[in-house]
Amino acid sequence: MSDKKFEWGVSTAAYQIEGAYNEDGKGLSIWDEFSNKTRKIKDRTHGQTACNHYHFWESDVNLLSYLNIPNYRFSISWPRLIPEGIGKVNPKGIGFYDRLIDQLLEKNIEPWLTLYHWDLPLALQKKGGWTNREILFWFEEYVSLCAEEYGDRVKNWMVLNEPMAFTGVGHFLGLHAPGKRGIGNFISTVHHATLCQSLGGKILRDYNEKLTIGTTFSCMPILSMTDSELDIKAQKRGDALFNRLFIEPALGMGFPWDDLPILRRLEKKLKPNDLNNMTFDFDFWGLQNYTREYIKSCWYVPYVQAKIVHARKRNVPFNSMGWEIYPQSLYDILQQFHKYDKKKSLIVTESGFATKGATFEQEINDKARLEFLEKCCELVMKAKNEGLPIDGYFIWTLLDNFEWAEGFSQRFGLVHVDHSTQKRTIKKSGLWFKEMMENQKVEKLWLSSL
Ligand code: GCO
Repeated sequence: MSDKKFEWGVSTAAYQIEGAYNEDGKGLSIWDEFSNKTRKIKDRTHGQTACNHYHFWESDVNLLSYLNIPNYRFSISWPRLIPEGIGKVNPKGIGFYDRLIDQLLEKNIEPWLTLYHWDLPLALQKKGGWTNREILFWFEEYVSLCAEEYGDRVKNWMVLNEPMAFTGVGHFLGLHAPGKRGIGNFISTVHHATLCQSLGGKILRDYNEKLTIGTTFSCMPILSMTDSELDIKAQKRGDALFNRLFIEPALGMGFPWDDLPILRRLEKKLKPNDLNNMTFDFDFWGLQNYTREYIKSCWYVPYVQAKIVHARKRNVPFNSMGWEIYPQSLYDILQQFHKYDKKKSLIVTESGFATKGATFEQEINDKARLEFLEKCCELVMKAKNEGLPIDGYFIWTLLDNFEWAEGFSQRFGLVHVDHSTQKRTIKKSGLWFKEMMENQKVEKLWLSSL
């Protein structure tokens, strides 16, 4: 069991909270175009203003301080720093994160920086974006700039946020930016994202070997709907896709194409040193879990011949995202990733609960979220006490924000935001977290009760 201090925190992302989409020299991102140009955002909203964090950053840091939150995970908007993605740097963009980081440190809040949380500069998308191997050079320029500008004050870094999401949903299903579809786009982006995942780590380590460097994965327990051979094989394909695809190349295990044969399309794209260049000994793996999924064989689904049996069809409780309410999934996925013996540390970098369509009063008295988060914290402590190297738990998220294709309809915040007035109101779950952070009750409570 790691004897490091356990890090409690909250997570956010630039595009979901900042707004100021075209202010102070910021370039457009693929999400600016996708949310403005397509009809794929369910409530027809966009992130042009979001939570207006770009202008309310100081009061939001005060909110973090009031809630006694010791660690704050946020992402950098690549096009805010480098409007065209490469080349000319925007000094006002650099200055925004400078002030944010300085104010966090002033309030004794540790900054945890995610380099890429899906908002690729639109100018780079016009050159092919993640499907273009040139992104290795673009990403190197961007990560090097961030290290040089912020590496003197930011100790904790994450390279990518959920590559499975931006490659799968954004480049195969077309439901997220840039709205690309098809197996060719997916395979190319998986290839280049896996290379950038380790490249980012190497750049940061070369900059300062004392930095704590991680990367994050969406992940969830994948279970077979029945014990039939077909469903069990479908479960293996689903687990390879949803949980193993990006961590195993980084561990030097290569792609899980034995269990998911479609991944063999990567073989002819790999250059001689690619598999070796995909490896990197990250200081921690950031796991982002919300639920579990059941899988069944399905011959007509291309490439995976499997489909998810959604919670609403399994007669189990689910939240407004349609995700089964099953906090145990966090404990189970931690145990699954614990099996990778080359890992140094696991940090839960996202865990949260969605609500939708409630009245303001109901949103503020978010008992279901509080109970879910409390159970998740308890299970994380349980796993930690069983010897797993778990060194942190970050709640998704601080503010009700722009939930990608769901727009503002889905709320995950510890703090309610009225997006027409930008008024912040701390929810019951936020006050619960404040009290826990105040007294560090969590660890004493669960350490003693186990
Ligand atoms: C993700 C992203 C977050 C989401 C959160 C709720 O995990 O999809 O990192 O940006 O908003 O997970 O879906």
